[in-house]
Amino acid sequence: MVTLQVERVSKLYGGFVALQEVELELGCGVYGLLGPNGAGKTTLMRVMTDLLAPSRGRVLCNGRDIHAMGADYRDLLGYLPQDFGVYPNFTAEGFLCYIARLKGLGRAAARQKTAELLELVGLSDRRKRRLGGFSGGERQRVGIAQALLNEPQVLILDEPTAGLDPQERIRFRGLLNRLGKDRLVLLSTHIVSDVESAADQVILLRRGQVIGQGTPTELLRQLEGKVWNVPVTAQEQEALAARYPCSNVSRVDGVTYMRLIADAPPTGRAEGVPANLEDLSLYHFGQTDR
Ligand SMILES: Nc1ncnc2c1ncn2[C@@H]1O[C@H](COP(=O)(O)OP(=O)(O)OP(=O)(O)O)[C@@H](O)[C@H]1O
Ligand SMILES: [Mg+2]
Repeated sequence: MVTLQVERVSKLYGGFVALQEVELELGCGVYGLLGPNGAGKTTLMRVMTDLLAPSRGRVLCNGRDIHAMGADYRDLLGYLPQDFGVYPNFTAEGFLCYIARLKGLGRAAARQKTAELLELVGLSDRRKRRLGGFSGGERQRVGIAQALLNEPQVLILDEPTAGLDPQERIRFRGLLNRLGKDRLVLLSTHIVSDVESAADQVILLRRGQVIGQGTPTELLRQLEGKVWNVPVTAQEQEALAARYPCSNVSRVDGVTYMRLIADAPPTGRAEGVPANLEDLSLYHFGQTDR
C-alpha cells in the first residue's frame, strides 16, 4: 500500500504565500482537494508531483523524499495537469501509444495498454478519431487515460471534471471508485458535488492552508445544528441575506425558503435541517473566491 506525506510544505511566489505549512497524510483511496479559485490546489499538486520545489518542507512517498526518488517516483505517479493540452492531429489511439512509448513501454505493450485504457474511459469506439474534434469531456478522458498508462500507484488529477457534462460526471465517479480501490487518488475541484459523491476523504484548502480534512460525514459534524430552512416574506429576505450566509433559496407552493447557516434559529419559523457539503463550502469559503 502506498502512502504520501506532505510535511510542513510552504510555497512562496516572491512575497506571496501560496501554501502555508501544509501537513497531509494520504493512503489508498480517493481524496478530494476542495477550495475556491486561487486557494493553492494546483500549487500543492505540482509540489506533490515533484514538478515544483516547495520553499520549505518536503513530500515523502512510502517514507522516501519524492525529490530524491526522482525517476523511481515518476514510475509510481500518474498526473493530469489542469491545463492538459493535446495534439489535435493525433488520433486518441495514436496519442496514447505515443505517450506510452515516451514512458518507456515497448511497442506491443503500448498498444495493448492503450486499448485497455480506451475501454476503461469509454472511448474505444472513438479511438481512430482525431483529438482536435473531441469534446471537452472526451479530451479530459484521454487525459485521464494518459495518466494511467504506467499503472500508477499515485494518481493526481487537477480538476479532472472540468468540462464534463452531468452524465460524464456520473460516469467519471464510477471510474474514480474503481481506481481508488487499490491506489491513492487525489483530485482537485471547486465543485462540491464532485467530492460529495466520489471522495472518501475531503481536504479543505483555503488561502494556502488546510483548514479541514476528513470524511464528508466527519466534516459535516461541525455544522450540526447550524443549518436552517426558513420560510421568509419578501421583506425579510434581504435582511436575513445580509445577516447570515445563505446556501440556497427555493420556492415551494408559493412560499420562499432560505437555507441559512446560523448558530441559533434565525427566526421563530426556522426549521433545523441536516448540513450538506454545499453548506460546509459556503461556511468556510463564502460566496466569493479570493
Ligand atoms: N507562478 C506563479 N507566480 C506567482 N503567483 C502564482 C504563480 N502560480 C500561482 N500563483 C498564485 O498562487 C495562488 C494559488 O494558485 P493555484 O493555481 O495553486 O490555485 P488553485 O487553487 O489551483 O486555483 P484554480 O481553482 O483557479 O485552479 C494564486 O493566487 C495564484 O495567483
Ligand atoms: Mg488550479
